[in-house]
Amino acid sequence: MDQIVIRGGQRLKGRIPISGAKNAALTLLPCALLTDEPLTLRNLPRLADVDGFGHLLNQLGCSTTIEGSRPEDFGRVMTARATTLTSTVAPYDIVRKMRASILVLGPLLARAGEATVSLPGGCAIGNRPIDLHLKALEAFGAEIELASGYVKAVAPGGRLAGGKFTFPVVSVGATENAVMAAVLAKGTCVLENAAREPEIVDLCNCLVAMGAHIEGIGTETLTIEGVDRLHGATYRVMADRIEAGSYACAAVITQGDVELVGAKASEMEATLAALREAGATIEDTKGGIRVAMSGRAQPVTLSTAPYPGFATDMQAQFMAMATLGTGASLFTETIFENRYMHVPELARMGCDIQVKGRTAVVRGVDHLIGAPVMATDLRASMSLIIAGLAAQGQTEVNRVYHLDRGYERLEEKLQAVGADIERISAG
Ligand code: UD1
Repeated sequence: MDQIVIRGGQRLKGRIPISGAKNAALTLLPCALLTDEPLTLRNLPRLADVDGFGHLLNQLGCSTTIEGSRPEDFGRVMTARATTLTSTVAPYDIVRKMRASILVLGPLLARAGEATVSLPGGCAIGNRPIDLHLKALEAFGAEIELASGYVKAVAPGGRLAGGKFTFPVVSVGATENAVMAAVLAKGTCVLENAAREPEIVDLCNCLVAMGAHIEGIGTETLTIEGVDRLHGATYRVMADRIEAGSYACAAVITQGDVELVGAKASEMEATLAALREAGATIEDTKGGIRVAMSGRAQPVTLSTAPYPGFATDMQAQFMAMATLGTGASLFTETIFENRYMHVPELARMGCDIQVKGRTAVVRGVDHLIGAPVMATDLRASMSLIIAGLAAQGQTEVNRVYHLDRGYERLEEKLQAVGADIERISAG
């Protein structure tokens, strides 16, 4: 298995191009199932999960072609066309490897009137149910059965009727599935307390470009008036605000100065506010955002929350940053119950972190010492990279496949701003 080796202590300086957003790409790709015309997505990141999703689409009878497959190309273009669906089943073998596969449930149900999807596994960050996905679809008229580890959903008469659903807690995935199911309903579907993440705005904008009628985009109430059919479109995937925030943390911990090219400040205000709290200077530039830091980070108090709150996907990276802070930082994880798996690994590098239930207190230390560490999930892996960039000596991050799920050409982007980092290929 590949390994990433970092010799820490280099100050990051320069420009980092931000890729298309993984979490947007993985909800835009299933939109191709909603029409018999081609959907072309630009600025797709080169990531294992995007390729995996392409394979899932192929299994359902949707063809995919990719331009920009050369290693030096950033921002690939994929055209997906589901002229006719040949299957409405997302099998266990695919879904267990890629949790986002659950996002074919809504579109298959909308287009074919039925869908059978394996219950997902995915990242080991706590118990991740899908009951809200199913309840929203039921509210729109779907009949749902669970059997042998699969969800089978049917729209009586081949089409969802419409209806109203209020989410008891904000769910990104369930909002995405419900919106994709609703766009081809016979009637009107209303979602209340819907997630408002920028990736959901991206999804809604793409669906509107395909002919969907959606009101309230970017708010917690989405009203979707079903249409008889959608058409093809060409759509550009938004910039990855989590990737941008991760590199911002790397810049702060190394007391560096980087420009995150392509990042949009309006989509990551909670992250930028937290960086300012830590003492960073943040400026809008023509092409993105500049993050500069001198001295050690000041302590932060952060609690994860649905957008526009502080993203759970940024918690691990900020925690790594806080390990070299000047005082005690306090973190509260409210979205997932088991998202501190990076803590024991960070401790191997000399961090002082105490976890109690959903909170963690990080006391800044003078220095970290490189160590062999193991990635446990995508964002946890990034926290180890961030710590490694500032640690004395060598850090070896194992199980790099987690990083490959979410960070396009990580080592290349970091090398270009001065990091001493390399991938050691197993093969
Ligand atoms: C969540 C994050 C998202 C992040 C992603 C990957 C939020 C609101 N969501 O999205 O930002 O990119 O993880 O790390 O921050 N839940 C249920 N039943 C359901 C679905 C969800 O109880 O059917 C609960 C979950 O257990 C969790 C909360 O709702 O506590 C939010 O989950 P959800 O937003 O659906 O998770 P993801 O879509 O994976």
